[in-house]
Amino acid sequence: MSKRHTITAALPYTNGPIHIGHMAGVYVPADIYARYLRIKGEEVLFICGSDEHGVAISMKAKKDGITPKEVIDKYHNIIDKAFNDFGISFDYYGRTSSKVHHETAQEFFKAIHDKDGFETQTTEQLYDAKEDQFLADRYVVGTCPKCQHPEAYGDQCESCGSSLNANDLINPKSAISGETPSLKTTTHWYLPLDRYEAFLRSWILEGHQKDWKPNVLGQVKSWLDDGLKPRAVTRDLSWGIPVPVDGGENKVLYVWFDAPIGYISATKEWAAKEGKDWAPYWQDENTELVHFIGKDNIVFHCIIFPAVLKAMGSYILPKNVPANEFLNLEGQKLSTSKNWAVWLHEYLEDFPDKQDVLRYVLTANAPETKDNDFTWHDFQTRNNSELVAIFGNFINRVMVLMKKYYESVVPEPNEYSSVDTETLETLAAAPLKIGQLIEQYKFRAACQEMIQLARLGNKYLADEEPWKLIKTNPERVATIMHTAMQIAAGLAVLSEPFLPHTAKKLRDMLQLDKAVCWDSLKNEIPVKGNHTLGNASLLFEKIEDDAIAAQLEKLTS
Ligand code: 2FM
Ligand code: ZN
Repeated sequence: MSKRHTITAALPYTNGPIHIGHMAGVYVPADIYARYLRIKGEEVLFICGSDEHGVAISMKAKKDGITPKEVIDKYHNIIDKAFNDFGISFDYYGRTSSKVHHETAQEFFKAIHDKDGFETQTTEQLYDAKEDQFLADRYVVGTCPKCQHPEAYGDQCESCGSSLNANDLINPKSAISGETPSLKTTTHWYLPLDRYEAFLRSWILEGHQKDWKPNVLGQVKSWLDDGLKPRAVTRDLSWGIPVPVDGGENKVLYVWFDAPIGYISATKEWAAKEGKDWAPYWQDENTELVHFIGKDNIVFHCIIFPAVLKAMGSYILPKNVPANEFLNLEGQKLSTSKNWAVWLHEYLEDFPDKQDVLRYVLTANAPETKDNDFTWHDFQTRNNSELVAIFGNFINRVMVLMKKYYESVVPEPNEYSSVDTETLETLAAAPLKIGQLIEQYKFRAACQEMIQLARLGNKYLADEEPWKLIKTNPERVATIMHTAMQIAAGLAVLSEPFLPHTAKKLRDMLQLDKAVCWDSLKNEIPVKGNHTLGNASLLFEKIEDDAIAAQLEKLTS
């Protein structure tokens, strides 16, 4: 029986374009998962959108001398296009500046407020007297009290990943004026996370010990063992969603309070467009909710947002939060400010139509269990030695031989040898094997299994050598080519979550029937005798050294 799945991918900040680190950490794995479930016939809602509030946006606007609205409009469009170009198959891509989102986030705040789910605290906070501005989050930089990194932000240290309080920074400075801040009294609403400690411990550490990733469980345990404290969910800022209760004048909701609610408001917008009810996607116990995020978002999705959902009362909790570690580039941390990145829109200018190559490399080398490195050399090797030499080569050989021997009409098989039978059995077992890995969020291994099938196809042809038998034993060649054809068709189906553009091209080339799908491969060969193939074209092209040298040059220039 098919299930309902709500799949979310972290909402990117619209203060810059998207780079390969975002893709490897969040969007490619989320897309593989969503595509796989759809092919399996499950009901899938894959949601994302732009995260358009917070200090990151105001700072960018200030730096560029434009308004926050101009910043979010510019990057929302660039990011939305990049996701489309790379085949990230969101059902809906929203924005947190939308009316529906403002209303939804305010409804959440008011509902929790009205049931006494917040505490207020009046404290002294860092204040830039010159700019007349409280310095929360990224408005203040200083030395991290945990790792001594000198450029930690008021909410987070990007070096050690710790979540921080602005007041704990050593030697804080205003990121706006560079001045040393003073202290000024202000009142805010706090979510009393301490009230949720027992629930979180039992739900995650006891209930999900076996199925959540060790890196996620490790961070959650460390937060819980440190003891949860009330966390402010409002800020003294002007850019954001106004606090909808008395005393909230000149204050906005903390961006991390409103952003995850963005998944729900995007669902509402999608549902309205589709004429559906949004509620089951967030409130029906039979829905499986999965959040794809990077490791710096773990606390927000495993502790704070679940506490918000619990406080609301009628919402489901995530079944899993498969956070990835970080991707580095040529041995160094990806950095937007230092322009140490491969930007998606620029990649496509240099490698048009090679979206799947990048998707493949980012999956094959995904930072699933530890930080990993993207190098241009590895990109070239994986393209030339895996996609071209294994996948592309196998398909090309099958297509050329089919045309040469049979004018592209698939022959009927004769008697199967034990090798043929084993080969077909391996193909029939592949959907389950790959599917189980995807369901365990092991996308690297799943992708390798898919390529393994192409490797098997190449080996099969090399061992059976139909070209040596075509004159002496055409009956045997018909069986060999019929068998090889099944692997090619299997690849068209099984590569779809990973390489959607290639899979489509291959399906067209093979003129594969729509009925041929993931599950049908398990008990039925995908292509019968007498089936006519379409025209062949190359799936992948070799990437030459000069193209790689140009990318390395671009990075350092
Ligand atoms: O870390 C980030 O890029 C955040 N904009 C992610 C937000 S995810 C969600 F909660 F909206
Ligand atoms: Zn630190």
